[in-house]
Amino acid sequence: MSFPFAGIALGCDYNPEQWPREVWREDVELMREAGVGFVTLGVFSWALLEPRPGEFDFGWLDEVVGLLADGGIAIDMATATAAPPPWLTTNHPEILPVDHAGHTLWPGSRQSWCPSSPVFREHALALVEQMATRYGQHPAVRLWHVSNELGCHNGKCWCDVSAAAFRRWLVERYGDIDKLNDAWGTAFWSQHYTDFEQVLPPRITPAVPNPTHELDFARFSSDALLDYHRAERDVLSRHSRVPVTTNFMVSSHQSEQDYFAWAPEMDVVSQDHYLDHRLPHPRAEQAFTDDLTRGVAGGSWLLMESSTSAVNWQPVNVAKRPGELLLDSLRHVARGADGVGFFQWRASQAGGEKFHSALLPHAGRDSARFREVIELGAALKAIGEVAGSPVEADVALLWDWNSWWACDLASHPSGALRYEDAPNRWHKALTDLGATVDVVHPSADLSGYGLVVVPTLYLCSDTVAPALAAVVERGGHVLVTYFSGIVDERDHIRLGGYPGAFRDLLGVRSEEFAPLLPGESVTLDDGSRADLWTEVLTVSGAEVVASYVDGPVAGTPAVTRQGTAWYVATRLDEGGTAALAERLVREAGVRQNPGARTGVEIVRRGRYLFVLNRSDDVAEVPVDGVDLVTGAAHNGMITVGSGSVAVVREGA
Ligand code: GAL
Repeated sequence: MSFPFAGIALGCDYNPEQWPREVWREDVELMREAGVGFVTLGVFSWALLEPRPGEFDFGWLDEVVGLLADGGIAIDMATATAAPPPWLTTNHPEILPVDHAGHTLWPGSRQSWCPSSPVFREHALALVEQMATRYGQHPAVRLWHVSNELGCHNGKCWCDVSAAAFRRWLVERYGDIDKLNDAWGTAFWSQHYTDFEQVLPPRITPAVPNPTHELDFARFSSDALLDYHRAERDVLSRHSRVPVTTNFMVSSHQSEQDYFAWAPEMDVVSQDHYLDHRLPHPRAEQAFTDDLTRGVAGGSWLLMESSTSAVNWQPVNVAKRPGELLLDSLRHVARGADGVGFFQWRASQAGGEKFHSALLPHAGRDSARFREVIELGAALKAIGEVAGSPVEADVALLWDWNSWWACDLASHPSGALRYEDAPNRWHKALTDLGATVDVVHPSADLSGYGLVVVPTLYLCSDTVAPALAAVVERGGHVLVTYFSGIVDERDHIRLGGYPGAFRDLLGVRSEEFAPLLPGESVTLDDGSRADLWTEVLTVSGAEVVASYVDGPVAGTPAVTRQGTAWYVATRLDEGGTAALAERLVREAGVRQNPGARTGVEIVRRGRYLFVLNRSDDVAEVPVDGVDLVTGAAHNGMITVGSGSVAVVREGA
């Protein structure tokens, strides 16, 4: 299905119900001034669209749709089901979600509904039916937006209705209770079940819960919401040929949905991303997540939401400095976004998000932020021809939500080991070197990559090792890090020594883990330092690249290689990671965009070279072509100032 908006559109959530009618006309005028190409409408409008059960009021929305259509602004129409109205939660408190300790999550906020509730579904689908019949043929409606960020706040529910749905899911998965017993290893601690009816969601327990039970509940919870998406989509598709999406929350540090499983159900993959200033490198995380979103989408995707400046939900909500809005937005485009959306058009005057930035701030039109928005709108228009161009990557980095869910469960060798840490580290080291990385599922076709990175792939199926062996056989390089290949899909240990699935590929064997205490670090004989993790490793065919000179396993190998299959048995610090990444990139013949360095990101999309300079110095990049943002031609070299960006169409 083709992309719903032309060029690289600027977009935003639009919540006109928060404002008096007089403001709407001005909104559309200012949207046109800013170059807004699409708006997401109606996300939280249920209470106004259906003020009483079965009584609908579309008059105000018709008016807004008309104004937008007259203004030439395309609509991403939400089904308005994200937040149930108070009459629904009052009449049907059984739809409220329950947390794992048994607390009801009460109304008064948003998303107060259980994903498995048939009662919620019935009411929501009735509204979707109304929306679909009313707007499904409207020429301004170009995209359907199911609910909003499915799973945001209600990704898991432990209520009795969810318990029954979980049991049905388990019956479908295992068929027979003994298969479940085998998969969950219930011989442990007298957990053996004799009937599916005895199974509950993993509620709060006196001691550590069964890990496979938890893993299956994570899988079920992701599937339950995807099933909900399908239900809304099927109603929409009965009345309308407009493509359907729901905005993903792909994130490299928090997400409960397996978006690799979700993406095939979308006509367009759309995604929300907010810089998280609690992280050490928020913009490196953005680059990672963008590359992962592209991997999920299998190509271009739509950035549905981001922020023009601060959000309201972090401990300290950092504002963007001058120039950062353009740079951060074009980072998304460089990495595959074919549209840049924001939450939201006009900053709210009341409510829980009144301190969240918007395209039009509280200060109004006469503000630096709105001028930057206009500048962004113009830049996106100027680079419209980039839309659809593929990002070219020589490196694949494997990522799997199942592995994440299993890796981060309790009672592991080190509670300080988090799944997302190693993928982000290696991605940053590689992109700092000017390499481009596709973040893909372990089952992806790896045949086009010179280097495949496998960071803490704790859980994997039996098919991953042969796929990696095939990469090595054709001369490609594979890098596996600590705590990979440890368990199968049931979270059962692969016996015979770690890293179970990858022992033969790597020519190593580890008999015991020796994780490091917080603050403890070790030195390697190549001078690099490492922390978090060590293990009692011996080589059985591999060559030792570096060993520990101190720490609990001093004298044993830390980095090894068997031909082009590398193993890193510890968490190298940033310098050590960068040095090894540099060596791998060189040996694997990975293309590096010249001029890239820490703070200077360079990404190629088809004929277009994106140069994003966040460093304090000028960036000089060899290129012939025209900078689409400034219109200037460059023969041989472009100089991009600190805090600036260029998008060069190479060639004539
Ligand atoms: C998203 C959500 C928006 C808005 C935004 C604020 O999670 O979809 O409605 O709340 O966060 O950052």
